[in-house]
Amino acid sequence: MVVDQATEFGERATGLIDQRELRTIFGRFATGVTVITAKYSGEHFGVTVNSFASLSLDPPLVLFCLHNRSSFRAALDVESSFTVNILSEEQRDIASLFASGVDRFLKVNSLPGRGGSPVLTNSLAYVTCEVAQQVAGGDHVIIIGKVVDIGLLRRDGRPLGFFAGAMQKLEPYQ
Ligand SMILES: Cc1cc2nc3c(=O)[nH]c(=O)nc-3n(C[C@H](O)[C@H](O)[C@H](O)COP(=O)(O)O)c2cc1C
Repeated sequence: MVVDQATEFGERATGLIDQRELRTIFGRFATGVTVITAKYSGEHFGVTVNSFASLSLDPPLVLFCLHNRSSFRAALDVESSFTVNILSEEQRDIASLFASGVDRFLKVNSLPGRGGSPVLTNSLAYVTCEVAQQVAGGDHVIIIGKVVDIGLLRRDGRPLGFFAGAMQKLEPYQ
């Protein structure tokens, strides 16, 4: 059960965190949506990710969290590169495609970025990185990337958002 009352705060015994409830709570943190791509052994990899975050300006670093069982892990040796494609609100279908099992690169337009990882055209912006570090984090691994190339593709584009388990359009205050 999801508890709303502030009186319940702190009364839960440690270790009694229900996974479904935790997912609901984590989902209340609104994020953007990215597709992270890589080229490894001549093959293209790509996965939809909302755990992307900027980490450091100097040195320039980013991070994202990848499930331990993700097929994308095979593409992420140390010194391999990846590109974070920051999606626009028109790319909802692409976000769904890269979160599913079907052949992900058949229907998308892309150009090779630095190191070969695909830059998805029509994204808002991209960040290409070299893998700097991988840190274990429970059922995920935190991938830290050193930024080697960046590009703003659509200055006035609107972002794709993710909130409460659903893709969203983010509206500015009037
Ligand atoms: C909006 C959204 C955000 C997601 N964020 C992540 C994420 O941050 N990390 C992750 O490992 N999977 C995330 N996923 C799930 C993967 O995209 C999905 O499990 C995908 O099928 C994994 O593919 P793979 O098994 O080929 O790696 C997200 C899915 C969606 C729809």
